[in-house]
Amino acid sequence: MKATSATPSTSAPVAHNALPPPSATSNARSSRIAPHSHIKGLGLTSDGLAAPDGAGFIGQTNAREACGVAVDLVKSRKFSGRALLLVGAPGTGKTALALAVSHELGTKVPFCPMVGSEVYSTEVKKTEVLAESFRRAIGLRIKETKEVYEGEVTELTPAESENPLSGYGKTVSHVIVGLKTVKGTKQLRLDPTIYEAILKEKIVVGDVIYVEANTGAVKRVGRSDAYASSYDLESETYVPLPKGDVHKRKELVQDVTLGDLDAANARPQGGQDIMSVMGSLVKSGRTEVTDKLRREVNKVVKGYVDQGVAEVVPGVVFIDEVHMLDIECFTYLNALLESPMAPTVILATNRGNALVRGTTDIVSPHGVPVDLLDRCLIVKTDGYNREQIGKVVQLRANVEGLKLGSGVLERIAEEGERGSMRYALQLLTPASILAGLSGRSQIEVEDIGEMNELFLDAKTSATNIGADGGFDGGKMW
Ligand SMILES: Nc1ncnc2c1ncn2[C@@H]1O[C@H](COP(=O)(O)OP(=O)(O)O)[C@@H](O)[C@H]1O
Ligand SMILES: [Mg+2]
Repeated sequence: MKATSATPSTSAPVAHNALPPPSATSNARSSRIAPHSHIKGLGLTSDGLAAPDGAGFIGQTNAREACGVAVDLVKSRKFSGRALLLVGAPGTGKTALALAVSHELGTKVPFCPMVGSEVYSTEVKKTEVLAESFRRAIGLRIKETKEVYEGEVTELTPAESENPLSGYGKTVSHVIVGLKTVKGTKQLRLDPTIYEAILKEKIVVGDVIYVEANTGAVKRVGRSDAYASSYDLESETYVPLPKGDVHKRKELVQDVTLGDLDAANARPQGGQDIMSVMGSLVKSGRTEVTDKLRREVNKVVKGYVDQGVAEVVPGVVFIDEVHMLDIECFTYLNALLESPMAPTVILATNRGNALVRGTTDIVSPHGVPVDLLDRCLIVKTDGYNREQIGKVVQLRANVEGLKLGSGVLERIAEEGERGSMRYALQLLTPASILAGLSGRSQIEVEDIGEMNELFLDAKTSATNIGADGGFDGGKMW
């Protein structure tokens, strides 16, 4: 999947399979979600039944209905102190289900995915990593009314003047910005520091922006829809021309998470002297947020919530490969689940009976200690048949903009049935590259055939290994 997100301009003929460039807000974490971009929700009817395919989800009806019940429980606040555990073979849609649950809970709900093994760090305590994830999954929606200038940029001219200090160079003395709304236009004369902010936000004529009147902070809302183009896939967000006057009071909504607040307060920017500057350079690695700091942050947040300025939005923590956690983490997880401000917790694993990490003799189902299992609502995901794999492959091909020749879908589905759903989906990108190499814009059956000569699926590879565990009976060399 990674190769497809490269800049389209570098690979001219095959660029049609390029995903839209990641938006500015996406970070390393969102790339883990990209293979699930076709999943829009659980696809349940109003009475909680799963249609055979809905919201990008194919089959897996029992698990989807079960997750729907969990969503209802969360919404009616009856899920606290519990967790949802998804169990099933690799590639059966556990991650996809977790993502769908978070979609069902609301659009701006924070989703914080992590993998069990992420807790093992030499710098930060295991429990601290868990605690941080939980904090990052609790959103805070802050509403403020501010005086702003808002509109579509019609003009952006920096005015230059002789630099009084250096004699030769020129500096920007002020910048003229024209803003347009449905009701009128206004020309603003702004300070050069605001011009820097404008450059940083990459604002050009035709963008809708607002400037906060008393801080001068500039924010780009999106591109005016008068400039909307007819591309099918685009990363740009188009917004209508703002209504009302240019200069007005506007309710601004900001979404942050408790984790953001903790981090911002753990590394305060204060201090002008050289020592504090040096100190902040050295401490820029990961440092722990203390419990005391969290309590302070909680107190401030509670104040805001009581005043009605902010609203708490509990999100979802998703811990994949949960069997990788050890016994210390599990007991801590129990405690976190009971804390008053806990997000919805979804765990996933593909293990059967396994040793609980960190113990020598406790074997437990899914490698999860029974006291935590006891708090879990366990949902099992099933394997897929050929038809269902075919449908998902078609969905992904549409999302990635790939054209499939006749018989290709059946062939990939067949491979998927032999290997796994994930193997089938992973065939798509290399096959499209092969097709591109032979100058076709469409994947044909022969590309898939060639793929099979080049690569092995997990099961084939496993059967190739001889009885004594070596390739070719250990006679490789
Ligand atoms: N029922 C389904 N409908 C649509 N896509 C699915 C379905 N099940 C799995 N997928 C897709 O198959 C791929 C593998 O699924 P994933 O959720 O990562 O499996 P797991 O986490 O169980 O190993 C993902 O791209 C996922 O979006
Ligand atoms: Mg997964």
